[in-house]
Amino acid sequence: MNACLRAVVRTGLHMGLEVTAIYRGYEGMIEGDFEPMDNHSVSGIIQRGGTILKTARSEEFRTPEGRQQAADQLKKAGIEGLVVIGGDGSFRGAMALNQEHGIQVVGCPGTIDNDLFGTDYTIGYDTAINTVVEAVDKIRDTADSHNRLFFIEVMGRDAGCIALRSGIASGAEAVLIPETVTYIDKLINLLKNGWKRNKRSAMIIVAEGDESGGAYEVAKRVKEKFPEWESKVTVLGHIQRGGSPSAFDRVMASRMGNEAVKALLAGENNQMIGMQAGKMVLVPFEKATKHHHEINKHLLELVDVLS
Ligand code: F6P
Repeated sequence: MNACLRAVVRTGLHMGLEVTAIYRGYEGMIEGDFEPMDNHSVSGIIQRGGTILKTARSEEFRTPEGRQQAADQLKKAGIEGLVVIGGDGSFRGAMALNQEHGIQVVGCPGTIDNDLFGTDYTIGYDTAINTVVEAVDKIRDTADSHNRLFFIEVMGRDAGCIALRSGIASGAEAVLIPETVTYIDKLINLLKNGWKRNKRSAMIIVAEGDESGGAYEVAKRVKEKFPEWESKVTVLGHIQRGGSPSAFDRVMASRMGNEAVKALLAGENNQMIGMQAGKMVLVPFEKATKHHHEINKHLLELVDVLS
């Protein structure tokens, strides 16, 4: 997100605009937590994870009164256009602000989950996958040396994108995601077949939102029917949301931030910048938030073929 912010600030200044930062998301907007930005304000941040603007969940912004207060603060500060970096919830908030108060707004997709319709990638997703792959590679050393079966839980409350892509990149034996039904017996058969073929280490990637209940639950149910194979569980948690962003994320976020400012200047409104087949496109918030991001079926098949 910092790379995107940097691009928004520097593009805006380049185009002769005044740029103001809003701290702590909608919470800060309601309180008028603003700061004028110059080129130097965003120096040395492109390599940093998270966001220097900080973020917050705002219950107040969900109410019409909260949004009225936010709009008043924006008007008082002379803010005419808004770039929102976030996911589904942030864009819904932006739409409400636009509908009720006519504030012009363009969004950049910022979520590690990659679950927004209309964009192939969201900011942070590539970095999160690389973090998972690095962790799984390290865990594999123990799995190999100690002949163990590992269940690794990755983020993805509603989406299996992180699990699927990192599962392929780390050579996982199976990937369990919320978009497909998890059959524990099928998983046990797969593991038993491997065991018969003398396989003594394996990695199962479980998305936290999988309906099976997460990695601990899956491990317990597998152990009940297949106790021979010693198993362990690792929950990767918030390490997936931090750290220095990948080059891919930095470039994409820079492009998106740049496009967002250009879109505002072109009079675009209520739209998200998306990346489709390598190209920057505009996607109406309405579509980005309403439609479901489809899981890549080819990648799903690939897990089965390659495991
Ligand atoms: O925003 C998406 C996400 O990364 C989910 O995959 C995960 O469940 C959640 O954030 C964690 O959020 P929090 O840190 O607020 O618990």
